[in-house]
Amino acid sequence: MIDFFFDEQTNEGLNKVADMLLEKGYTTARGRTRIAFIDPSHRVVIKIPLTFEGEFANGQEAKQWKRNLAGDDLVLVAACRLTTIMGYNLLIMQFITPIDPKNYPKWASYVDCGQVGTNRNGDVKAYDL
Ligand SMILES: Nc1ncnc2c1ncn2[C@@H]1O[C@H](COP(=O)(O)OP(=O)(O)OP(=O)(O)O)[C@@H](O)[C@H]1O
Ligand SMILES: [Mg+2]
Repeated sequence: MIDFFFDEQTNEGLNKVADMLLEKGYTTARGRTRIAFIDPSHRVVIKIPLTFEGEFANGQEAKQWKRNLAGDDLVLVAACRLTTIMGYNLLIMQFITPIDPKNYPKWASYVDCGQVGTNRNGDVKAYDL
């Protein structure tokens, strides 16, 4: 059982989502406020919040992606959107491969711990704002 820091019912429900993803062969990478479930073909990750802060971060990344689509290029985030899985609002995001900091763009200094890499097309994107 993962300790998602929500009420008991939500904790139980999110564990069901986690079990379902693990059964499908997803692997995990844990951050401070979210767990990223990485799909077996490394195309997307599904971010399940551990805390309200993680839920907020999911929303912020989805908003920044919409801003990018509208032409705001201050910080380029990996393509992502909020999606509903088994009744829970989670973030689905393009898989990003981290790159050497010497290849960071200028805007990487705005990104939490420089969590920046490339997507399948080789475009440099942030995966954690
Ligand atoms: N788009 C992505 N592609 C590949 N791996 C990812 C992606 N997003 C997150 N990860 C992996 O999952 C981990 C946790 O995700 P993320 O950094 O978004 O969570 P967090 O709780 O905000 O983390 P932090 O502890 O950095 O605040 C990352 O350190 C990274 O290894
Ligand atoms: Mg992180």
